[in-house]
Amino acid sequence: MHPLIQTTLRLAVAAAALAGGLHGAHAQEPYPSRPVTWLVPFAVGGPTDAIARTVAQRVSAELPQPVIVDNPAGAGGTVGAVRAARSKADGYTLFVGHIGTMAAAPYLFKSLKYEPLRDFVPIFRFPDTPMVLLVRNGARFKSARDLFEEARKRPGQLTFGTAGVGSSSHLAAEHLAATAGVKFTFVPYKGTGPAMTDLVGGQIDAMLDQTNVSLPQIQGGRLTALALTSQSPLPQFPGVPTLAEGDLPGFLASTWYGLYAPAGTPAAVVETMRGAYMKALADTAFTDGLRKQGIDVLPGDQVGPAALRDFTASEQKKWERVIREAGITPQP
Ligand code: MLT
Repeated sequence: MHPLIQTTLRLAVAAAALAGGLHGAHAQEPYPSRPVTWLVPFAVGGPTDAIARTVAQRVSAELPQPVIVDNPAGAGGTVGAVRAARSKADGYTLFVGHIGTMAAAPYLFKSLKYEPLRDFVPIFRFPDTPMVLLVRNGARFKSARDLFEEARKRPGQLTFGTAGVGSSSHLAAEHLAATAGVKFTFVPYKGTGPAMTDLVGGQIDAMLDQTNVSLPQIQGGRLTALALTSQSPLPQFPGVPTLAEGDLPGFLASTWYGLYAPAGTPAAVVETMRGAYMKALADTAFTDGLRKQGIDVLPGDQVGPAALRDFTASEQKKWERVIREAGITPQP
């Protein structure tokens, strides 16, 4: 063989081997080998954003790459859910779903563009967060009873901020109004962060929000907590009664969240994220920090993928019934 042809052949074989080797290396690329994005479907500064960033930061410490939070907000979180459902199932785009987007939305929106348990696989369940009934500091309502009495006298005239149809703040507020026998006018925002700004500014009368972001506003004297939606009073909210033990016996509301991946995401990805979260849960500095915000850290056997799948399915059944019984007409 001509020496030039021989050299060319050798080079070709070497190039093919290199390409094959690179391809092999790519197939076994460790996960994650670049930053992972968690889509949080509500505005920055709200409770979902706050808890997602806290968890993301702690989970990042257990991974070779950071978790980054992105906030495609709107339509009660369903804008972000659609984006997540259509993302590549490669583990680099995950979704922070919750009571609204993963359980109630299918019964509230006729043309919802995703099906939670068909288009997503569960990874882990976050801690639960109770809610607090809020008015601005100095408002004329000094108790939940004051608010309900005025709402009864002026049906539909008091304004109540929510994070949009089907958001947790909306579901809890509908439940509150039905239980108290009053009618509010709901004002939707892209998250309770912007709703809270308007509450402080006096543009709306009241809202229900999660304890984690409400606490600093209450401590800072901008908002007044009228009542909690937890079973028992919380030490972080001294002197604030529960609705369950006070004006609305048995009334409970809290927000649950879970991390989900687009359907088809490799099981190894799910396991890596779950494992990182389980390590975070074993860190008492992390869990104590959450508890200080009134957040309810769940035991380990309630947080894994199978537990989150069963829980999501049972919550869907619950919200289907609640929405039907309340006679709520789904959005077109
Ligand atoms: C909600 O569903 O009300 C959300 O938690 C609001 C938010 O995170 O802004």
